[in-house]
Amino acid sequence: MAKVRVGIVGCGGIANQKHLPSLRANAELNEVVAFCDIQRDRAEKAAKEYGTADAKVYTDYHDLVNDPNVDVVHVCTPNVAHCPVTVAAFEAGKHVMCEKPMAHCTADAKKMIDAWKKSGKKFTIGYQNRLRDDTQTLHASCEAGELGDIYFAKAHALRRRAVPTWGVFPNKELQGGGPLIDIGTHALDITLWMMNNYEPVSVSGQVFYKLGRDEHGPEGNVFGPWDPKTFQVEDSAFGLVKMKNGATIYLEASWALNILKSMEASTTLCGTKAGAEIHHGGSYPKDELIYNTVEHNQLMEKTISPAGVVDFFEGGASAEGVREQKQWLEAIINDTEPLVKPEQAYVVTQILEGIYKSAETGKEVFFD
Ligand SMILES: NC(=O)c1ccc[n+]([C@@H]2O[C@H](COP(=O)([O-])OP(=O)(O)OC[C@H]3O[C@@H](n4cnc5c(N)ncnc54)[C@H](O)[C@@H]3O)[C@@H](O)[C@H]2O)c1
Repeated sequence: MAKVRVGIVGCGGIANQKHLPSLRANAELNEVVAFCDIQRDRAEKAAKEYGTADAKVYTDYHDLVNDPNVDVVHVCTPNVAHCPVTVAAFEAGKHVMCEKPMAHCTADAKKMIDAWKKSGKKFTIGYQNRLRDDTQTLHASCEAGELGDIYFAKAHALRRRAVPTWGVFPNKELQGGGPLIDIGTHALDITLWMMNNYEPVSVSGQVFYKLGRDEHGPEGNVFGPWDPKTFQVEDSAFGLVKMKNGATIYLEASWALNILKSMEASTTLCGTKAGAEIHHGGSYPKDELIYNTVEHNQLMEKTISPAGVVDFFEGGASAEGVREQKQWLEAIINDTEPLVKPEQAYVVTQILEGIYKSAETGKEVFFD
């Protein structure tokens, strides 16, 4: 079986901390043959460390997507570049894995979906949190109907003080937003996936520009201080999403909030038969999955504690990153569906954009 030939566009944090180590861990399925970054030294460094002996280095993504040696393009650029790179890759006949969020706005996400449908190629988004042990287990429970009808959920993405201080995270023009679009996106993705409900009707939300722009805000930040004067995005965002079947989701996202417990890519599900909570992130050195139910006329809790948390700040291939790449490469090789479907990622972008719009207008936003 021929190996899938991968080209990476954007050789920064997520490329070096998730894609490249995880692709290497699946070396029997792929080889990385091309690297592109507007900062040439980054592409060169990644090519030397992870590329084939004759790997190509580019500074213009058009050259990489048109390289006949590339089968699949991984888009690891800041959010606003997701759409142009993805569309160009589909037009050049490549498969695409694009980092989360799919896009910073629904207009771009729609262009990406249209280009994908025309291409007949595979498309997925980098929501690797679906591949953790706890999320896989809870999803199996939801699929088996063990929670019954899930009519209320909370999507958690709250940090006490963990504002990213590398890359372009506080840059509104390049990212489209702050913690809502950065980590709220993961929490919402796993929550919708558990509920298997992708029909939002309306959303209302509020965003705050408090600690991010406060001169004392950066004190205690785990990634070191940021500059409040250049901090353009929100530091916290909250939304209430109503679904077509009446189910309701409360979404909370912050990089810096005066709370006690921080957790992200986490969810709380309340169903007619049982409930469940996943705790992952800052305050939880080990992931927790706790089911709550009533048995023998008693309130019961069942706890599963799988292996510890691995995030993408320290480098190395995490279990979920390796699984993410494996199922993606196998989807290409075996012509099957990847786990994360573009239409699902589109709904996440639609809801996030709705929260920003609602906060801006002070009104509930309704979807067609
Ligand atoms: N899945 C996750 O958990 C996760 C975690 C972190 C970041 N991300 C996503 O990954 C993306 C990148 O984030 P990052 O932390 O790696 O940022 P980063 O700034 O570290 O890296 C981005 C790289 O893209 C390059 N770049 C920018 N525009 C380009 C263009 N037009 N063509 C080629 N290269 C270009 C930059 O020079 C930089 O090296 C974002 O969309 C972010 O949301 C996902």
